[in-house]
Amino acid sequence: MQSAAQANEPSQAAGAAAPVLRAAGLSKRYGKRQVVDGVDLEVRRGDVFGFLGPNGAGKSTTIRMLTGLVRPDAGTVAILGHDLHRRPQQALARVGAVVEAPALYPHLSGDQNLAVLAALSGGASPERRREVLRLVGLEGRAHDRVRTYSHGMKQRLALAQALLPQPELILLDEPTNGLDPGGMVEVRQLIRRLAAEEGITIFLSSHLLAEVEQVCNRVAVIHKGQVLVQGSVPELLQAAPFVTIAATPLEQAREVLAGIAGVRVAATDSGALRVECDPGRIADLNEALVRAGCRVSALVPGRLSLEEFFLDLTGSHP
Ligand SMILES: Nc1ncnc2c1ncn2[C@@H]1O[C@H](COP(=O)(O)OP(=O)(O)OP(=O)(O)O)[C@@H](O)[C@H]1O
Ligand SMILES: [Mg+2]
Repeated sequence: MQSAAQANEPSQAAGAAAPVLRAAGLSKRYGKRQVVDGVDLEVRRGDVFGFLGPNGAGKSTTIRMLTGLVRPDAGTVAILGHDLHRRPQQALARVGAVVEAPALYPHLSGDQNLAVLAALSGGASPERRREVLRLVGLEGRAHDRVRTYSHGMKQRLALAQALLPQPELILLDEPTNGLDPGGMVEVRQLIRRLAAEEGITIFLSSHLLAEVEQVCNRVAVIHKGQVLVQGSVPELLQAAPFVTIAATPLEQAREVLAGIAGVRVAATDSGALRVECDPGRIADLNEALVRAGCRVSALVPGRLSLEEFFLDLTGSHP
């Protein structure tokens, strides 16, 4: 359990600037397959950090390495300034995680489940159990058997379990997986509340872009074991600006634009051209088109939706 000395750890004193979690060069191979390949991650205090990637990208394997369940072939993990490999107890002292499907006793109530689990890890007072059950919205069902819980309620009970030791950081592997839309909304609201009201830093994986967009302030996109991009959602979108251009003749305009270095052209449905380039070059594009004899009727800057950006990055366009 947490000792009073914990509050005086150097990493705590370092304040908001010190990353809560830092992974560097994390790698894992299963057989011939390089499942995780040199992953670097930095999660800062107060983040709701989304670890986004399609099925099989290496999310669960990475999270298992971050929680010490799987040993990496290479790379390091530091949590709250403690090296996970060399000082696992200190590193994990203030960490809660829901990684595997939660192992709950169906014949016991939610509160009894928490009591049993707490007993295994040093105990938790009835007040603390009540508190976490309230946090996850299960106070009204605390004394019902878990057998009678919905999937979403079990998921929230697993979260309650992760919250028992008052973690500073929680790691959640696809926390809304398998939930119906209502259950998803509830768990997302809960995650936002834990971050905003309890000040808990959250790292969650998801293959759902909309979820990450709704819940997270920062994101890393993982694909085939590698982190392709990492940053704040607005930052990532700024990295993907485009201009929609309406010009005639369209084919000629396309050829002119395609001939300009650093410009990528893709036709859009409406007969306009979508051009990926730095917005600072719009005037240059216009000039090139006019000089070539094209008539330009519109030049509209835009940003890729995160969805388009994600599909572009992971090459999984339909
Ligand atoms: N214990 C293991 N032994 C062998 N291969 C494994 C093992 N665990 C994972 N893999 C393989 O590693 C790759 C990544 O799996 P992982 O579970 O980390 O992906 P994921 O991003 O969590 O996918 P999903 O969205 O489906 O949960 C997959 O190809 C998987 O088959
Ligand atoms: Mg997974």
